[in-house]
Amino acid sequence: MDRGASLSEGDVNLSPRRSSWRALLGDKARELLDEDERYFIRQSLSTPCLDAIERAEGAVLIDVDGRRILDFHGNSVHHLGHGHPKVVAAIKAEMDKLPFCPRRYANRTATELARQLVETAPSGLDKVLFAPGGAAAVSMALKLARYATGRHKTLSLWDSFHGATLDAIAVGGEALFRRGVGPTIPGAEHLPPLHLARRFFGDDRPYERFADFIDYALEVQGDVGALVAEPMRWTTVEAPPRDFWPRVRESCTRHGALLVFDEIPTCLGRTGTLYACEQFGATPDILVIGKALGGGIMPFAGVLAAGCLDCAPEAAVGHFTHEKSPVAAAAALATLAAIKDEKLLDRAKELERRGLERLRALQGRHGAIRDVRSLGCYFGVEIGGADAAALAERIMYECLAAGLSFKIGGGNVITLCPPLTIPFPDFDEAFSILDQAFARSAA
Ligand SMILES: Cc1ncc(COP(=O)(O)O)c(C=O)c1O
Repeated sequence: MDRGASLSEGDVNLSPRRSSWRALLGDKARELLDEDERYFIRQSLSTPCLDAIERAEGAVLIDVDGRRILDFHGNSVHHLGHGHPKVVAAIKAEMDKLPFCPRRYANRTATELARQLVETAPSGLDKVLFAPGGAAAVSMALKLARYATGRHKTLSLWDSFHGATLDAIAVGGEALFRRGVGPTIPGAEHLPPLHLARRFFGDDRPYERFADFIDYALEVQGDVGALVAEPMRWTTVEAPPRDFWPRVRESCTRHGALLVFDEIPTCLGRTGTLYACEQFGATPDILVIGKALGGGIMPFAGVLAAGCLDCAPEAAVGHFTHEKSPVAAAAALATLAAIKDEKLLDRAKELERRGLERLRALQGRHGAIRDVRSLGCYFGVEIGGADAAALAERIMYECLAAGLSFKIGGGNVITLCPPLTIPFPDFDEAFSILDQAFARSAA
């Protein structure tokens, strides 16, 4: 497989280094990994798995052999750390009272969550629908855009990720998900990857040219229903300049296309604001949220939509069995409360300052680091050079052996995603582990 096909979303389990990593695990972990592989369908981003986990608490995972691992990956759900006591308590309390709410019935917990989300969202996003996962929420956004505009076409970005279901991979742009599955859905057209603007539009004002290109693509077709994008591609931590999304926003409005932001990993404070779009100067027509919404425990996602998109009362836009799950909503309410009470937006910015300072120092020490970047408490360490992807993978396994887990994005970007609640000593320890791994890998 080439780089684009195999490394875009994350490190895969097919490499020789992964095979040798297995030998470093304890007996119990190896035994459980064998059992896991025996029953689960294998796939390159999970089974065969990295390790087998027994416990998760705060920023730490403990494997079945008692190994401690700092979780700087957490699938981007663990803003509050694993098992935040208030989220756990809220879930338990709701389970005792209303464990399930059949569809067609309202419940107070879900309605209260919808109200709080609307009240804290960028202005104009007045309506809500929930779903049991991010890809399902993306799917609802696509359907809503069709109902609202009468158009089925979408524009989205090559190399982006919006979930693993067939409709989500149709708007997604990652070869790993699209290759070999045959036709997806018609009308899903793609633009160049956001983070490769320079490659396609040159060094002179690349994002301005990119925005012009989008305007042209919307105008020349005239029948695009929605432009779907992550405001910042999550896997490479490269934000576009601040004037990019306002220009695209304006083009979408002018050409009658909805702007859909997928903020599944960025939502709820990770970036230092409740939503990343607040920093990018553009409010979408539909904001897709997920991951941290379930407090890092419940599978939960949703869309926040402009009031005028409540336009298909005769249709079934979502209709998921666990649509208004009171238990998931209780987890989300506890999450929103913790973000406020523990001032996690400020903490994200504080951790960003602290982390960037450490990363810049690392960059000064290790020539392999081409760039360091952040958006709130989310960091990217780009490795340069001809064998960048191999080095990134080597460093990842070095760090894992020393007790630090993270994901590699785009083949050569180490991404660091710690809980916003992480104690400073644990936070600092991760950067020391990374430092030592770079030093050993250069030796
Ligand atoms: C940007 C983005 N969109 C959508 C999804 C899909 O969410 P889920 O795995 O809950 O379906 C993800 C998950 O990683 C994501 O990062």
